Amino acid sequence: MPGFEIFGDEERKEVQDVLDSGVLFRYGFDQVRNDHWKARTFEAELAERMGVAHCHLCSTGTAALSIALASCGIGAGDEVVIPPFTFVATMEAVLLAGAVPVFAELDSTLCLDPGRIEEVMGPRTRAVLPVHMCGSMAHIDKMVHEWWGDKDDPHDPYGNHSYQDNWILMECMSDFLKKKL
Ligand SMILES: Cc1ncc(COP(=O)(O)O)c(C=O)c1O
Repeated sequence: MPGFEIFGDEERKEVQDVLDSGVLFRYGFDQVRNDHWKARTFEAELAERMGVAHCHLCSTGTAALSIALASCGIGAGDEVVIPPFTFVATMEAVLLAGAVPVFAELDSTLCLDPGRIEEVMGPRTRAVLPVHMCGSMAHIDKMVHEWWGDKDDPHDPYGNHSYQDNWILMECMSDFLKKKL
């Protein structure tokens, strides 16, 4: 199976720590877990590595998408802009939230074209869910700058946009075996 060849002593030790403690849960059992908080430690290290304030481990990438949408309060009657070229979990998560997926155009990178997203945005749009595809990075910086500008720059042309102070940026990742980080 691809991936097995990179397991070494370091990885075996991390797994063995958990097996030795007998505690497979991320919470509780403080007295017997030998001070191993693998999930919490991973979250802290990943947040530092990514330069973000918060990081939360979930069971799958699909669960992460659902949790992200739910935590933004997205639900019935809302619309979420997504790319038409993606994995099925993108639209499943939107539908599971009770919202409606709306497709916007791609560009030659096979990711959402930032210049074509506003064409499909309307009063019900609550989120845009770009997806990095096939090794190509979605144009996150461009979208963030174009729509919300630089909050700290008083001369930013987008600085007065009505939704500038009212947005959340989240990133979901799947650590499924064949994923490249
Ligand atoms: C773009 C994209 N989103 C979400 C997922 C779902 O991730 P998981 O398989 O960890 O649920 C995948 C999995 O292939 C994916 O490619």
